[in-house]
Amino acid sequence: MQSFLRWVGLVILETFRLNILLTGGLGYVGSHVAVVLTEAGHQVTILDNLSNCKHAVLDRLTKILGKEPTFIKGDVRETSLVESILKTHSIDSVVHFAGLKSVGESVLDPMLYYNNNLIGAISVLKAMQLCRVKKFVFSSSATVYGSPQYLPIDEMHPLNPESPYGKTKLQIELILRDLVASDSGWKVVALRYFNPVGAHDSGLIGEEPNGTPNNLMPYISQVAIGALKRLKIFGSDYETLDGTGIRDYIHVMDLAEGHQAALEYLSEPSEPLSIINLGTGYGCSVLDLLKLYEIASSRRIPFEVTERRPGDIASCYANADKAFKRMGWKSKRSLKNMCEDSWKWQMSQALKK
Ligand code: WQD
Repeated sequence: MQSFLRWVGLVILETFRLNILLTGGLGYVGSHVAVVLTEAGHQVTILDNLSNCKHAVLDRLTKILGKEPTFIKGDVRETSLVESILKTHSIDSVVHFAGLKSVGESVLDPMLYYNNNLIGAISVLKAMQLCRVKKFVFSSSATVYGSPQYLPIDEMHPLNPESPYGKTKLQIELILRDLVASDSGWKVVALRYFNPVGAHDSGLIGEEPNGTPNNLMPYISQVAIGALKRLKIFGSDYETLDGTGIRDYIHVMDLAEGHQAALEYLSEPSEPLSIINLGTGYGCSVLDLLKLYEIASSRRIPFEVTERRPGDIASCYANADKAFKRMGWKSKRSLKNMCEDSWKWQMSQALKK
C-alpha cells in the first residue's frame, strides 16, 4: 500500500511538475520567480542576455536553492536559439520577462525599446509556435493604463500608455489578443504589475538598478545606506492627503507567487487570454513610505521637495479582485515587510563593497 501511495504521489508531482522557460530570468522579478517556481518543484530554465543584470545572480540563486538553475546566456531575438531551448529542455510553458523597463530611457530612445521589447516578444512567440509550446505568461505593466480615470484601477480601465515603454507593453498585449484568436490552442496570462519593491528575505537577491535609481524604493534605500545624500521628493502639491504621490507597492515575492498562480491557472480550463492586475489594492504616499523605511532601517532619510517629475500622476493603485477570483492569489506581505526586506538586501550589498 505504501509503495502504491508513493507512486501516486510521484505521478501527481510529475503531472504538476512543469518545465518552464524564464526569459530575462536573472532580472529583478525573474530571479524571484525562479526561486518560487523551483521551490514549488518545477524545472526552471533561464535565458538572459545579461544586458540589465549580473551573472552573479545565478550564484546567488544557487545559494538559495541549493542547486544551480539551468542558465543559457543569449538574446530572445535569436528565434533559433529560443527554439532549440524549447526542444532541448522539453519546455511546457514560458514566462516572458526579457525586455527594457525604464520609462525615462524609452522616451529618449524609443527605437531601442521597440527593438528590444516588441521584436523580442515576437521572436519568443514565433519559436513557441514552431515548437507547439502554447502556454505563455507575459510580464505586463500598470503603465498601460496611463493617467487613472478612476480608482482603484481594474482591468476594464481604459488603456492609454504615455511612454514608449508602456506602449510596447500594450502592443504585446494586442499581439497576444490576435494570437489566441487565431489559434485556440494558446493559453495566455498577461500580468499587469503595479510597483514591485522589496527583496527575497535571504538578502541574497533584490533590485540592482544600473547607476542612480529612477524609482522611489531603491533611491530611498541608497539614501538610508549613505550612498546618496538625500531623497528628492518630486512635488508635494498633488491632490493627495500629504500632497505626495501615491502608488500601489507590491512585494516582489508576492508578485513571484502571482506568477506561480498564473502558471497553475493555465493548467486549468480557463479563457484563452486572461489580463490580470498584480497589486495590493492599497496606495501609499512617498512621505509615508519614507517614514516606514526610517523605521525599518533605523536610519534618518533626509529629503527635499522639488518640482514634479514630468509625466508623474498623483495616485495609482489596483483593484486586485480579479487575481483572487480567477487565480486564488492575493498579496500577503505588508509595506513593513517590503521596507525590511529591501533594507536587508541593501545592507548585504553594502557589505560586499
Ligand atoms: C513612485 C513615486 C514619484 C523617485 C515606475 C515605473 C513603471 C512601473 C512602476 C514597471 C512617484 C516619487 C520617485 C524619486 C520621488 N514599473 N518619486 N523621488 O513612477 O509609479 O512607476 O514603477 O512597469 O514603469 O516607471 O514609480 O518609483 O518612479 O515613483 O518623489 O527619486 O515616487 O514622483 O510619486 P512610478 P517610481
